[in-house]
Amino acid sequence: MKVTVKILRYNPEKDKRPRYRTYHVEAEPTDRVLDVLEKIKGYQDGSLSFRRSCAHGICGSCAMRINGMNRLACKTLIKDLHSDKIVIEPLLGLPLMKDLIVDMKPFFEHYQSVKPYLINDEPPPLTERLQSPEERERFDDTTKCILCAACTTSCPSFWSNGQYVGPAAIVNAHRFIFDSRDRGAAERLRILSDQFGVYRCHTIFNCTLACPRDIQITKAIGEVKRAIATGSLD
Ligand code: SF4
Ligand code: F3S
Repeated sequence: MKVTVKILRYNPEKDKRPRYRTYHVEAEPTDRVLDVLEKIKGYQDGSLSFRRSCAHGICGSCAMRINGMNRLACKTLIKDLHSDKIVIEPLLGLPLMKDLIVDMKPFFEHYQSVKPYLINDEPPPLTERLQSPEERERFDDTTKCILCAACTTSCPSFWSNGQYVGPAAIVNAHRFIFDSRDRGAAERLRILSDQFGVYRCHTIFNCTLACPRDIQITKAIGEVKRAIATGSLD
């Protein structure tokens, strides 16, 4: 099939503002959007810039807006778009660097601000820090995050104020707050209760719809809100 691909292009050295360019590409219905981008870059326009790495839905590099929705280009099949017209744009809410590449620095600063690592100063036991399957289940969903930013950059609260820590940071805080081996929950809940924390979330659900890992993000944010409100992790 022939697909028409409209891509928002921007070269900071030449362009005053982003503009669309259209390409016509021969593709299989089972090709991924990433394959189409590679074909354009390889055979039509080598200056096209986008991020990709593993190409298998694990590294989170190729998140972009595809027909108006945040998705991973490597997990999106042409046939699943139900159209031979594809519009590809960079993620919203982060500074645009070039073509489909945005500056991820603010995103990772929010991520780092919630201390996304195990905190436990107690002397280590002789064997592992044990955990029951039930205790592990408590935060299993939020361990699946690949830090692609599709959630945070689809959130209207984040668009309106980039200081909002955003759903991805809350997901990664949740992953440790509810880990029975961790002792940093109180500190993270204090960080997330400030004016740019969880209460900027108005339960809009765009984040949950955008997540390529199907993480129940809005539910996780609700659990963090409840922990702050009740002072309990139960
Ligand atoms: Fe991506 Fe989902 Fe993680 Fe958000 S929670 S960064 S959408 S994997
Ligand atoms: Fe935004 Fe998701 Fe909350 S889209 S408002 S973080 S439910």
